[in-house]
Amino acid sequence: MEIHSAGDDDLDLAHDGPDDVASGPGVTRRPVTAAENLRASRGWWDADADNYQSEHGEFLGEADFVWCPEGLREADAKLLGDVAGRRVLELGCGAAAAARWLAAQGADVVAMDLSAGMLRHAEQAAARTGLTVPLVQADASALPFADGAFDVACTAFGAVPFVDDSALVMREVYRVLKPGGRWVFSVTHPMRWIFLDDPTEGGLRAVHSYFDRRPYVEYDEHGAATYVEHHRTMGDRLRELLGAGFTLVDLIEPEWPEGHEQIWGQWSPLRGRLFPGTAIFVAAKPSD
Ligand SMILES: C[S@@+](CC[C@H](N)C(=O)[O-])C[C@H]1O[C@@H](n2cnc3c(N)ncnc32)[C@H](O)[C@@H]1O
Repeated sequence: MEIHSAGDDDLDLAHDGPDDVASGPGVTRRPVTAAENLRASRGWWDADADNYQSEHGEFLGEADFVWCPEGLREADAKLLGDVAGRRVLELGCGAAAAARWLAAQGADVVAMDLSAGMLRHAEQAAARTGLTVPLVQADASALPFADGAFDVACTAFGAVPFVDDSALVMREVYRVLKPGGRWVFSVTHPMRWIFLDDPTEGGLRAVHSYFDRRPYVEYDEHGAATYVEHHRTMGDRLRELLGAGFTLVDLIEPEWPEGHEQIWGQWSPLRGRLFPGTAIFVAAKPSD
């Protein structure tokens, strides 16, 4: 809904699932199973990897950590603390520009993503920059790492909005962090879900219920999901973090910077000056 560039102007709220006879590809809000979600996400991000990188690669940089379309950088925000010498996991890394930036700061980084297509871009960027980090293809809902393996975990818009059970991802990240470890993730700000995916004036009118947690689903001509993205309210996100055992350190709602004119999908200067587009949760696993 929010992260890739398709809009939801054609949202078909009547269509309720693959059992309906779909007359063609479309967009809806309906429940999905974990398996359907995983299949759609892997297929979508594999197929869209080249497009995503050609559209956003320059903004994201070769070795840079950009938290959000507002352009907030980890170099300025310092949400992860000093990463030199620390074991860091980047989830939903995409082309892993953030992981390479972290490696350049002296961190011992592992970057993971569901999509082989996205990880191929990470490999190519590693060859171009000479900054190589281990890449792991996996689902963030089942992290293939030992308990307490990392000091820090992070993601900029990766994995969390694309899984059916984000509370499970919170528990998985908690498990792989050491006591005292930090978990920082950015997502579309929950309030954006009440608006259409429209960076212009059309995107200033509230049309969806903030309380509708049914995922946004794009489907093919057979009704099968091809893209799935999940909304959680601010309270849901907090409960998922606290329920996993984390404490909340900070919640950043980056303001749209003066002079920043770049549009990313539904993120635009027009809307960014009025209301937040990104929420960044900074959480910590309590020390023993
Ligand atoms: C919007 S992109 C963000 C990529 C990168 N962090 C960035 O800032 O450009 C979302 C990423 O999440 C990944 N992803 C989606 N579902 C995932 C899952 N279940 N586990 C791990 N990664 C997932 C996608 O493959 C994609 O690379």
